[in-house]
Amino acid sequence: MKKSRTFAPAPRITRHSTRDVVQLVVYLVWDQVVARSSRVIPTYPKTRRTLWTGFPLKCTIRVLFYKKICPSAKNAVPLPKQSRPMNNNNPHSLVTIADLSREKILSLLDAAARFEEQPNRKILDGRVVATLFFEPSTRTRLSFETAVNRLGGRVIGFSDAATTSSSKGESLNDTIMMVSNYADLIVMRHHLEGAARYASEVSPVPIINAGDGANQHPSQTMLDLYSIRKTQGTLENLDICLVGDLKYGRTVHSLIMAMRHFHPHFHFIAPRELAMPEEYKLYCREHGIDYDESTEFSQQAIDRADIIYMTRVQRERFTDLMEYERVKNVYVLRADMLQHTRENLRILHPLPRVGEIAYDVDACPQAYYFRQAKNGLYVRQALICDCLGMEV
Ligand code: CP
Repeated sequence: MKKSRTFAPAPRITRHSTRDVVQLVVYLVWDQVVARSSRVIPTYPKTRRTLWTGFPLKCTIRVLFYKKICPSAKNAVPLPKQSRPMNNNNPHSLVTIADLSREKILSLLDAAARFEEQPNRKILDGRVVATLFFEPSTRTRLSFETAVNRLGGRVIGFSDAATTSSSKGESLNDTIMMVSNYADLIVMRHHLEGAARYASEVSPVPIINAGDGANQHPSQTMLDLYSIRKTQGTLENLDICLVGDLKYGRTVHSLIMAMRHFHPHFHFIAPRELAMPEEYKLYCREHGIDYDESTEFSQQAIDRADIIYMTRVQRERFTDLMEYERVKNVYVLRADMLQHTRENLRILHPLPRVGEIAYDVDACPQAYYFRQAKNGLYVRQALICDCLGMEV
């Protein structure tokens, strides 16, 4: 996929003093200290597709460039505004699941359950939601759009960035500023980690992160939590196997962070090349989340699990296709592996699958992934209303 330019070209530095440069360096160091102490995951995972491996750093350089080094150029690119734009109804963005407290998560799940009872309430009459998908999607985009349509709102947007002005070089900043002229809420998927955070900082309307690279997918996590609570009757003290691509799988990263409130035991099952990144294991240790790691998807792990969360090995995240070929079919769940499981075991998968769950599993009572995707509709109705500041 073609990468969109993110920042407008920097104008030439005309004049700056040594004092300015020293001040800039101090600001940069300070920003990184603050970023590392306040962000739950301090560094963005490093994939080759990440232009902004140091996104906060680059953003800071840009902001400080205009503020401190070249103030005369400040109109060239609008500076980020407040990250949570406020008005009387208190709309806000959803960028990372880490922003949601236990109480907030439970209240959103309750709202989703009410939408499941009544999915066609016309409470979004007169509202417009934009879905900007710079990366392919089936479930996320269609369920967000269905959520809006069923609630009586209108949808604008695109599912192929090649048909938009970003293919002519328009920056993400400018695209967001334009779309916010037309829509009350923006749902955005982007291949760059940090893109949703950036959009939320420049946008005057709320942003929902519908997936940013290998980083986060908070609305998926909310529907995963909804599915877990619905099938297990609780979110507490569950034995959860995360299987497959734990390195690039944004859904498992978000799920770990959300489950910190509910005392899970995680089994991280992945080939060495796709093991859970160190920062997420550190996160588990810091938050008292129990976990173990294995490269083997053993029968014992299957038989003692409450939830098996399968993930796809994501070809699009690899720059070395030989490495992808080596690991793509490393774990395949088949029906004959499900004969002695706990009765309450449910198999989840964010989908799409490409071979890691055999088709014969679909008929097993443990298979829940299609209903999981259906739950996404109700959860996204709840999230849209919440981000718009509506009581439901
Ligand atoms: N689960 C998920 O994000 O699916 P899509 O890529 O089809 O949206």
